[in-house]
Amino acid sequence: MDPYELIMKKRDGKELTDEELKHIVHAFTDEELPDYQMSAFLMTVWFNGLNSRERATLTREMVETGLTLSYDESHGTLVDKHSTGGVGDGVSLPLVPLVASFDVQIPMMSGRGLGHTGGTLDKLESIPGFQVEYDQEGINRALDEVGALIMGQTGEVAPADRKMYALRDVTATVDSVDLIAGSIMSKKIAEGMDSLVLDVKTGAGAFMKEYDKSVELARAMVEIGTELGKNMSALITDMNQPLGFAVGNAIEMEQAIDILKGEGPADLTELVSRLAGEMLVMGDRADSAEDGYRKAHDRLTSGGAVDKLREIIEFQSGDPTVVDDYSLFESTEHETVVESSESGYVQSLNAFEVGMASKSLGAGRETMEDELDYGAGVVLEQKVGDRVEEGQPLARLLYNSPHDPGEARDRVSDAFEIGAEKPERRPLVYSSMDESGEVTELEVPRPTDQAVTA
Ligand code: URA
Repeated sequence: MDPYELIMKKRDGKELTDEELKHIVHAFTDEELPDYQMSAFLMTVWFNGLNSRERATLTREMVETGLTLSYDESHGTLVDKHSTGGVGDGVSLPLVPLVASFDVQIPMMSGRGLGHTGGTLDKLESIPGFQVEYDQEGINRALDEVGALIMGQTGEVAPADRKMYALRDVTATVDSVDLIAGSIMSKKIAEGMDSLVLDVKTGAGAFMKEYDKSVELARAMVEIGTELGKNMSALITDMNQPLGFAVGNAIEMEQAIDILKGEGPADLTELVSRLAGEMLVMGDRADSAEDGYRKAHDRLTSGGAVDKLREIIEFQSGDPTVVDDYSLFESTEHETVVESSESGYVQSLNAFEVGMASKSLGAGRETMEDELDYGAGVVLEQKVGDRVEEGQPLARLLYNSPHDPGEARDRVSDAFEIGAEKPERRPLVYSSMDESGEVTELEVPRPTDQAVTA
């Protein structure tokens, strides 16, 4: 096939056949198609888009370029969740043990943080000894013995995605719904799960800032999954302000343990329960999302899933006594308080700025090679809707030398907008999407009784 012809076809807004898409993906991965032609192809997709068949084919072929995990019949339905990334989004940390405590099996492959968003693996690695590298045999053993594990990418999963993402990053083609959906779903499909719940974030701290774009991304991913034989659903959730109170690694892990003890922030507890509700339906442990939500929420608030976390930590070579003794986590030498310069109500709290502040304190990385300071981060003392007086703490910054808190102090201060009127409560969950892509408005409000601090 002549790549020139295929690029021209897509440039002119025509559909590509399965064979043509297969050729492009494999030739590029095998280094037979040069970067300049792939860049041109990616740009034609950015402008002209893909239809749902093309998206599914592109994704399937990306999966085919690498290792795929597979499981025999002895395993039950394998369920997973994927979040499009946010700030303070430590959802997976309590969600996996919670759902696994209902005997639903979860082989979750997670990533590391980059830019303003944190990564589940980084947060878990703040537990002394915690290991995230497993091969197929290790994953099978985890599912048999514990029912769940959270791991890094095993071997080379979807190498086409890694190569394509590197090109997208330098050719202004990252923000294409078709390409984002294919990229995310290729890695999830390679993981071998049967059912997947998507947590698609929307707002200032999310990949997609606008609600309609978030719905479009959710639909593209749901369609790809359904086309490739997976059971799919999605929630569109708020990422204007950070979730919970902690933005960092060890402090988010501590907060996750609090949630499992029934003592966590109300917003994260609610979101974890909603996502768990969807997963319990998929794992045949609930009749409806509402039924699953009730079961999950009851177990979470009664502390009934904390032992499952101990089991997971122990299996993954970590020290399970952290669950009862947070002093085993790394802490920091310094703490700086950011005070409010005025009195009033918190109108908004920009999640992106808080994420960047946490990164500047050493909790995040600029490039994949950067080392993390596990103890560093931002602890929020106020959230949207809270009343503050001038001089009252808005947040605490945790850091070690040689990090300078100056940038974080400015960013956190700017992130808080204070005004005279009490703002209206925003939803925590805007809507859900079923496997046919149909959207149901939910408008689950963000709880205000955030009584428990990290
Ligand atoms: N995350 C991914 O894995 N891929 C994208 O393209 C964007 C976000």
